[in-house]
Amino acid sequence: MPGPETIAAALAAARARLVAADVPDATTDARLLMQHVLACDHAGLILAGERSLTVAERAAFEALLSRRLAHEPVSKILGEREFYGRLFHVTADVLDPRADTETLIDVALEQPARRVLDLGSGSGALIVTLLAEWPEATGVAVDLSETALAVTAENARRLGVAERLTLLQGEWFAPVSGQFDLILSNPPYIPTAEIAGLEPDVREHDPLLALDGGADGLSCYRAIAGAAAPHLAPQGRIIVEIGAGQGPDVARIFAAAGFRQGAERRDLGGHVRALLFTFPA
Ligand SMILES: C[S@@+](CC[C@H](N)C(=O)[O-])C[C@H]1O[C@@H](n2cnc3c(N)ncnc32)[C@H](O)[C@@H]1O
Repeated sequence: MPGPETIAAALAAARARLVAADVPDATTDARLLMQHVLACDHAGLILAGERSLTVAERAAFEALLSRRLAHEPVSKILGEREFYGRLFHVTADVLDPRADTETLIDVALEQPARRVLDLGSGSGALIVTLLAEWPEATGVAVDLSETALAVTAENARRLGVAERLTLLQGEWFAPVSGQFDLILSNPPYIPTAEIAGLEPDVREHDPLLALDGGADGLSCYRAIAGAAAPHLAPQGRIIVEIGAGQGPDVARIFAAAGFRQGAERRDLGGHVRALLFTFPA
């Protein structure tokens, strides 16, 4: 039976195992899992470093660590992820919301909107954030996945915007009626053949429905651009997230459907991440 282990020693050992398993961000991830077990913040963890773990704490940490060693993302293990300064509940049924997607929120907030539509809402990161930022706005969230839509609903409730959000299950615009000042979408955009080569954290823990953009990665943009015009209010805007290098192709798809391209915005990695369109061209 091994003797008591200090928190600092357990963290160092966990870090080494994560590095050996090729888990990125081993130091941060070990720390976040330990903070969860001890229910403390970063400062509390530093203060507690030389105390010994209890048997129960050690078992709880090992259980979480073994999931991370199997490449489950920390957000999915802990069931939460911060997005635009708010904590979102995340499950295996939704895409883990990415920091890059906050670029769409920055573009959206440059012009107020009262009626907002989010196509493919997943966790609700986009629509729930915008309804929280705009207390007068109402929103509609669409997702093909019923289980994803349940997570949108849960986050809308937790963040106090549920009364202003309508949830619709179905394919893009199929269940939608009416017009919107702002239509947003972060659709699946990975070409099907590239999915097998993605990092295991993504490939095995984000839903395929949230990743697969068809043979060339662009099929969802074609579906959305082809049906958007009747749902855009005068002076309305469409903002879509794109994958690295997809800008020219997506711009062509929207231009062919009669839209004019406005601002484009780069993410922190320097890739064009958000494209804005208005109608008519
Ligand atoms: C890349 S995820 C984006 C989730 C969330 N909006 C975000 O930015 O984190 C794409 C979402 O689109 C949904 N989806 C995929 N195909 C769809 C379709 N044909 N119609 C509606 N939603 C769809 C998926 O279920 C998934 O929740």
